[in-house]
Amino acid sequence: MPKTILVTGGAGFIGSHTCVDLLQNGYDVIIADNLVNSKRGVLAHIERVAGRTLTFNQVDVTDETALSKIFEAHEIDAVIHFAGLKAVGESVAQPLRYYRNNLNATLTLLACMEKYGVHKLAFSSSATVYAITPSPIAEDAPLGGCTNPYGWTKFMSEQIIADWARCDERRSAVLLRYFNPIGAHESGLLGEDPQGIPNNLFPYVARVAAGQYPHLSVFGDDYNTHDGTGVRDYIHVMDLARGHVCALNYLDTHTGCIPINLGRGEGYSVLDLVHAYESATGKPVPYRIGPRRPGDVDATYADPTRARELLHWTAERDLANMCACGNRWQMQYPNGYEG
Ligand code: WQD
Repeated sequence: MPKTILVTGGAGFIGSHTCVDLLQNGYDVIIADNLVNSKRGVLAHIERVAGRTLTFNQVDVTDETALSKIFEAHEIDAVIHFAGLKAVGESVAQPLRYYRNNLNATLTLLACMEKYGVHKLAFSSSATVYAITPSPIAEDAPLGGCTNPYGWTKFMSEQIIADWARCDERRSAVLLRYFNPIGAHESGLLGEDPQGIPNNLFPYVARVAAGQYPHLSVFGDDYNTHDGTGVRDYIHVMDLARGHVCALNYLDTHTGCIPINLGRGEGYSVLDLVHAYESATGKPVPYRIGPRRPGDVDATYADPTRARELLHWTAERDLANMCACGNRWQMQYPNGYEG
């Protein structure tokens, strides 16, 4: 019997790419998503790329009655929990909305899992839970000191999940700490579809290269890095998706709760990415140096040893591939998914 995976937030950027990998690996997929930050049109793209259908429920994960109906209707083997608000700047302006939404989503999901005897969970966490610390960053690095409410909701959800896992020996959870996911499925049929002006670097660069914006503002060139611009660990979204499928295998053979980094383990600067995008696409990416963005750090990249040893997973795609795939998506779907 194929295993059934509930994917909360499966209509989002990382969720949609993960659903493709799950479907292509023989899992049956159920998405629960309220479409607050994604469009229903993504579903047809997932099914077209995967060559298989999925089950979609437009549900707010904080709605226990609605979420329970999904657990009633399906024999769920494991859950991948992506659903949550994730805009760093927005979380600073609307902290209570972020704490209420993201923490209630986690609490409601765990309550349903407890009620229906579902014991395996992969949680979409983030490197933002780490305190400011030298890179490469391993999972035992100091935590906390988050610079925004979004990061604190990930930090607090990790703690809630760890305590949930510890109180029942049948339970297993992995806390997947993403670094900087970018790019798109190689088909160009899936990609990042930020609503409005992107906060993150990569989608903004893609739109500058496509002529949607006149130039990129580089947020500071006086950081303690090789070229003065911020250094991050960029990871192809399909490598990240594969990490989730590998995590499901780990959940089948282990109990307890463990954090695992999903990153490449190497850092690239803003200008490294700009130049890589220009080389991969042949398109200029004009930029101007602007002031630093509050809260940014000089450099952050992963120590990916634990993922390699426990999940038998390493990121395979390089920066050039991330840029080429992201550009293919941008050119094919300049306005993103259909409504
Ligand atoms: C990358 C670099 C900027 C935009 C964020 C979240 C993190 C995670 C990933 C969810 C930095 C520079 C950016 C621009 C720029 N999200 N930059 N001009 O801040 O590393 O991480 O996204 O989990 O939680 O914090 O990513 O893409 O915003 O910035 O120069 O227009 O690009 O200063 O050095 P970040 P980012």
